[in-house]
Amino acid sequence: MKKLVATAMAGILAVTMAACGASEESTGETNTSDKVLTMGTSADYFPFEYIDTAKGDEIVGFDVAIAKEVTKNLGYDLKIEDMEFGSLLGALSSGRVDFVMAGMTPTDERKKNADFTDIYFESKNLVMTKDKAITADDELKGKKVGVQLGSIQEALAKDRYKDSEAVSLNKIPEIIQELNTGRIDALIIEDAVAVKYMDQDESLKTYEIKEDGPTGSAVAFKKGDKMRDEFNAELKKMIDNGDIDKLAEEWFQKEAK
Ligand code: ARG
Repeated sequence: MKKLVATAMAGILAVTMAACGASEESTGETNTSDKVLTMGTSADYFPFEYIDTAKGDEIVGFDVAIAKEVTKNLGYDLKIEDMEFGSLLGALSSGRVDFVMAGMTPTDERKKNADFTDIYFESKNLVMTKDKAITADDELKGKKVGVQLGSIQEALAKDRYKDSEAVSLNKIPEIIQELNTGRIDALIIEDAVAVKYMDQDESLKTYEIKEDGPTGSAVAFKKGDKMRDEFNAELKKMIDNGDIDKLAEEWFQKEAK
């Protein structure tokens, strides 16, 4: 493409550009193997990241779409490693993954071990119950509240609902399952993720938790990693030019799987 444009232009400038274009292209093609960024995620979070069984168990979603675009713009191939949410920051520190994108909220605690980009998606936490609606925090007293292991929802359950029993599990679908079978009374979940389950089950009820500390999603990098700034600049472009909004529209109106 670059070559075509360049050769269409007259004079030395055109020749120089054509040369540049050609060398850029060939480096792009030959170096892809060592230009790979590995993203760590926890693919239990429709529509942020989930396993598409119709696509041969490919991990897809809003986060994956953003990561694909940013890594492409930075000249890298993207590889994805799926693991438990609670293992992600450890995998980042040990260098097993280059960055973490998992609807992860930047908290002060996490910032001690990772550097985050800007927030690319805002969200709220909800308390979800089944059949019998709980509408206020004090009704959670003595109740079992399900949360994902290592999540901000787990911290919230432990700090804010001290009179409740926090039940920590690895995967969001497992927590929903516990609510369905009545082994827990409520769970804490982000609004964008709750939608899927509410669409499928009218007996689920929610209320919003007010003033609950940091929320939203950002990308995590190893502390001091300069790649954070490069990634953030690309992300910011996508926020400013409306690309993130477009992807959000695409993924958040997808029918739940
Ligand atoms: N935003 C919450 C947090 O950072 C929950 C994220 C859970 N993500 C996931 N892929 N299961 O703790």
